[in-house]
Amino acid sequence: MKRWLTAAALLLLSGVLAYRLLNRVDSAPGAAPALAGAPPTAPLLARGKYLATAADCIACHTVAGSGKAFAGGLAFKLPVGVIYSSNITADPINGIGAWSDADFLRAVQDGVGKDGEHLYPAFPYTAYTQLSRDDVLAIKAYLMSLPAIPKVNRRNELNFPFNQRWAIGIWNAAFFRDRRFAADPAKSAAWNGGAYLAALGHCGECHTPRNPGFGLKHGEELAGADLQGWRAYNITADPKYGIGAWSDAEIAQYLRSGVAAGHASANGPMGEAVAHSLQFLDPADIDALIVYLRTVAARAGNHPIEVERRSAPLSASAGTASGPAEEAAHGLGLELFEGACAGCHQWSGTGLESPYAALQGSRGVNDASGANVTQAILQGAAWRIGDREVFMPAFGNAYSSTEVAALANYVIAHFGGKQGTVTPAQVAERRGL
Ligand code: HEC
Ligand code: HEC
Ligand code: HEC
Repeated sequence: MKRWLTAAALLLLSGVLAYRLLNRVDSAPGAAPALAGAPPTAPLLARGKYLATAADCIACHTVAGSGKAFAGGLAFKLPVGVIYSSNITADPINGIGAWSDADFLRAVQDGVGKDGEHLYPAFPYTAYTQLSRDDVLAIKAYLMSLPAIPKVNRRNELNFPFNQRWAIGIWNAAFFRDRRFAADPAKSAAWNGGAYLAALGHCGECHTPRNPGFGLKHGEELAGADLQGWRAYNITADPKYGIGAWSDAEIAQYLRSGVAAGHASANGPMGEAVAHSLQFLDPADIDALIVYLRTVAARAGNHPIEVERRSAPLSASAGTASGPAEEAAHGLGLELFEGACAGCHQWSGTGLESPYAALQGSRGVNDASGANVTQAILQGAAWRIGDREVFMPAFGNAYSSTEVAALANYVIAHFGGKQGTVTPAQVAERRGL
């Protein structure tokens, strides 16, 4: 039986490989749609900077607070070990200073390193493969114009067999399609620009669910996925479970400033995407992105979360804790909330002097699993958006896992009107991520 299975697996694999070889698209230059923030007429370095910002290269290639932009070393903790991002500064020994254009193109479009080794798809070449040759080389020119930082790369710490880079070749054969963006002439210029920006911003890498082999599930684009303890919500056009009911202005506000009043504030990995990347995009490009998002097929996704708009405001609108019943049900959570949280968030959940601290109506407080609520409590938030500091203290060290679970379930009950299911064991697990 076992031998039969192995044979079947090999047959399947060779089939996939043959299919891939036959369908191989060569590194065609590709024509990128014009972006408002990076028109082809803009000077090369300005374009490269804008494109690198839209692709958020800095988020993964810089250790926060190190002052060493693009010098790598950020850890990606996976169930099978740790991967470290690389130094991509102009340093000739540790960075990309000695890389040819072809080397750089092969890395960004195909996920292959300078010595021909496969790169781990923690580096989203699976999305960047769509970038045109000119755009990739503009990014290279920009990186090469910045200070070279001689920081030595850290070796990945992965368990066997995941430390075998050749195995990524097999993964690529099954899940990666090497292709440049091809504009759809039947769609508007804005739609094409938006689709290209979604590839640059690699929205799908976080928001599209994955199959058991870690490949993106095509046919479920942007329907919501779990990543490193966070939930990247469904952002399809579904009016109930996605963002179909948000107005264009609300989505634009969220992407440009990290908050859509009455819907959400961007925290965790999305807070980073807004803080490092999206807030700096040209408003016309954000509008294009929205034109594209509107056309992503509506789906419920694997974890449909409906935002309950009726019952919760009733319990929260009193402006105080809601009486003895709530107190009895949520003793510890309510007590902690009163002491540490109500000052900023208020009992009504409207947030004090800040739409960012509004809890009412968000997907997070309506998600009974409490994934992002737990993460917000453990990690807090610290973003600079424009000239505003968006801040919430991290409570991970202040509270035990039992306290965090009680708080999370209280927040879900009081603001979402739902029964939260967060357990202390889940909180303990999330701490390690
Ligand atoms: C989501 C995180 C992430 C983002 C965003 C990201 N990278 Fe990376 N990148 C990585 C990781 C992790 C590696 C190391 C992969 C490995 O060890 O196989 C890497 C490796 C690379 C390499 C190979 C370096 C070498 O020495 O082999 C290049 C080049 C690179 N990235 C360029 C970029 C550029 C340019 C951008 C923006 C367009 C970018 N990266 C955005 C995570 C990221
Ligand atoms: C690094 C991972 C990551 C990337 C890249 C990313 N997102 Fe997100 N996104 C998240 C997470 C996690 C959340 C939930 C944030 C929270 O709870 O505050 C989220 C939330 C959102 C929301 C709010 C949904 C809601 O119902 O509250 C929108 C809209 C959104 N993302 C759009 C985008 C778009 C458009 C892109 C690409 C330009 C993108 N995201 C790229 C991880 C990501
Ligand atoms: C100093 C003010 C401040 C305090 C104190 C504070 N918060 Fe926050 N909180 C914020 C801000 C601002 C945000 C929005 C962060 C962002 O946009 O990334 C936020 C976000 C959140 C979120 C994410 C909202 C969502 O919809 O997913 C939760 C949950 C949360 N806070 C719960 C708490 C709890 C529980 C406490 C007490 C232990 C607390 N906060 C204390 C200011 C505060």
